[in-house]
Amino acid sequence: MSGPKSIISFEDAKAKAKRKLPRMIFDFIEGSAGREIASNKNLQIFNDIHLRSRVLASVGNPKLNSKFLNYSFDLPFGIAPMGMCNLAWPDADKNLAEAAKKFNIPHCVSTAASSSLEDLKKWGEGQTWFQLYVNGPTEEAWNMVDRAEASGYKTLILTVDVPVVSRRVRDLRNGFVVPFKIGLKQLVDFALHPHWSLSTIIKGIPEPKNFRQGSKNNFDRNASRAGANWEFLVELRKKWQGNLIVKGVMDVVDAKRIQNAGIDAIWVSNHGGRQLDSSPPALLTLPKIRDSVGPNMPLIFDSGVRSGEDIVKALAFGANFVMLGRPIMMAIAASSEKGLNDYLLLLKEEIEVVMAQLGIKDSSKISGDALYTDISKKLQKEIHTENKL
Ligand SMILES: Cc1cc2nc3c(=O)[nH]c(=O)nc-3n(C[C@H](O)[C@H](O)[C@H](O)COP(=O)(O)O)c2cc1C
Repeated sequence: MSGPKSIISFEDAKAKAKRKLPRMIFDFIEGSAGREIASNKNLQIFNDIHLRSRVLASVGNPKLNSKFLNYSFDLPFGIAPMGMCNLAWPDADKNLAEAAKKFNIPHCVSTAASSSLEDLKKWGEGQTWFQLYVNGPTEEAWNMVDRAEASGYKTLILTVDVPVVSRRVRDLRNGFVVPFKIGLKQLVDFALHPHWSLSTIIKGIPEPKNFRQGSKNNFDRNASRAGANWEFLVELRKKWQGNLIVKGVMDVVDAKRIQNAGIDAIWVSNHGGRQLDSSPPALLTLPKIRDSVGPNMPLIFDSGVRSGEDIVKALAFGANFVMLGRPIMMAIAASSEKGLNDYLLLLKEEIEVVMAQLGIKDSSKISGDALYTDISKKLQKEIHTENKL
């Protein structure tokens, strides 16, 4: 996609998205649990980490391709599962699937997606993964697993950090519910953002499409998701022949048990701070989990990643692959398909620039060596102190 860049930094994308989206929608994307301490800490920890710049290395033609599970991706990052993406922009789901195909990166389709998992697989093809919530009765989840298998998904992600949807104060304040209930407050909000409102009305108010079997929409966002328990995981492992990933792991004991259950990859994440406000920053737990599961267990990381430099830091902290949530939504809300493409390119360029500074030619070689020693020692100390508490 040519023409001048619509986005030259994450901050750009966020500012544009904020202008374009009704407050209720921006807050749904940006908001977190409780007082939003965890989500702020997720961001802050990246600022506190320094990288070690090295000179005189031969760094032409950087290699960013990443072998992860049985995939060969062009970049070491991908798109995290997010429900109701078409709230950011009417064609967001399709744009995400197609951009993932174009950039050869994974696109994770949420159970609560605003397009059906079948359509998303058709649009995205090979590298489209399906994310499962056990929302309400487990029969619904097993049905969803069958549909994912029938439509050709090869990788399934079970999200385990939402036993119940947390209290998200912004959503409560704005009256955000699915499906929408539109009162005076929401009407005023929409009227103040006519571009979004008209485009959305023309295409139809987004709904969680995976639950629309027949005419009845039976998705209840606040239903318990606690059906995802250890027994369910064991059953799922027996049933699902493809790659199985467990998302939302923040504890070394859980990580070890998941590894022992024969799961193919662990996704270290605190859901971007959207679930437990007293969670430690997700990045802080990553080296601990790496220590507990050993060097060969594939680890994905998300929560707080905003730039290529952050991606490099997460890789240096022990991740094999990195995912992004909110920034992807902000980019697409800011400038639709072009915004998304520009942001993905921007991340790639940022990684290349940082790798050159670190004297690293191949992103698969990024390790703890890239961390500025004093800071990693400080973090090690912090981790150590935490362990003693
Ligand atoms: C608007 C929004 C919707 C989300 N929906 C889901 C979802 O349906 N399933 C899921 O596993 N995670 C969901 N997440 C969490 C993301 O997959 C990811 O863990 C998180 O956004 C990472 O943090 P970041 O936003 O700081 O990158 C959602 C996040 C956002 C922002």
